[in-house]
Amino acid sequence: MHTKNTIHCGDALDLLRKVEDESIDLIVCDGPYGVTQNDWDRIPSIQEYNLDLIRRFAPKLKDGGALYLFGKSDCLDFVDYRPFLKLRSRIVWYQPSRLAQGRLNYTNNYDVINYFIKGKRPKCYNLDAIRVAQLVELEHRLRCENVPSVKNGQYGKTKFNEDGKNPGDVWGDIKQLTYKSKELVSREALNTIQKPEKLIERIVLASSNPGDLVLDPFTGVGTCPVVCKRHGRAFLAFEMQPEFVAAAEARIASLDGGQKILEFSYGT
Ligand SMILES: C[S@@+](CC[C@H](N)C(=O)[O-])C[C@H]1O[C@@H](n2cnc3c(N)ncnc32)[C@H](O)[C@@H]1O
Repeated sequence: MHTKNTIHCGDALDLLRKVEDESIDLIVCDGPYGVTQNDWDRIPSIQEYNLDLIRRFAPKLKDGGALYLFGKSDCLDFVDYRPFLKLRSRIVWYQPSRLAQGRLNYTNNYDVINYFIKGKRPKCYNLDAIRVAQLVELEHRLRCENVPSVKNGQYGKTKFNEDGKNPGDVWGDIKQLTYKSKELVSREALNTIQKPEKLIERIVLASSNPGDLVLDPFTGVGTCPVVCKRHGRAFLAFEMQPEFVAAAEARIASLDGGQKILEFSYGT
């Protein structure tokens, strides 16, 4: 087994072999999408690649453990993942395009985050940790307990929850990073890789508990390890580009009050 709370530099598929079966509580897989010109993203069939990942990840998860697999809308087309994991939600991460330049088709405005679990029931789904503001007017709040159910017309026990509502499966409240984002590690990382901490935070808080072990096989500049460290989760992270490993390590160190991360540049 690899050392925990460390970014391991190398090929994720090789490194994965040494991960003990049934040892992982959550996998956050933000790997190749098969859409950019980066060398690591040139995947002949992203569907075959993702099926292979799912096949390799499944034995590593504990019963009830979760996998969040990122991609574009077609990333699981015609893929039969059912022998390995159960798909619970297909989350749409909606990002309104700033420029929407498409001329021949509708501009793509979302990524998909496929939420799978191993077995029948999730180990955890911490709804209270990820509630979002209820944007309903007072009148509706007051009527909330008097709304008939769509299923049987009976008046239910729907209560207005002051702590907020379930974020649902379309996440439009978390914006992609911009050049001005404080958490941005490098300008080059913006359009190619770096995800907002808030996005990864929602996943980590919902599908793991403090002390759990989170696997981030394609860690990039370390957003998931940063979130794990902040919330008391252990992590195992893999990344094949040494510059990214260095950036991720500096970012993690900065949580302990270490040096602020410097801009870095990298090839594709
Ligand atoms: C989409 S990015 C991940 C970004 C990350 N979530 C973040 O916020 O920084 C995918 C990363 O996977 C890495 N990668 C791609 N294929 C890999 C492989 N086979 N083994 C290890 N790392 C790989 C790339 O170098 C890239 O940094």
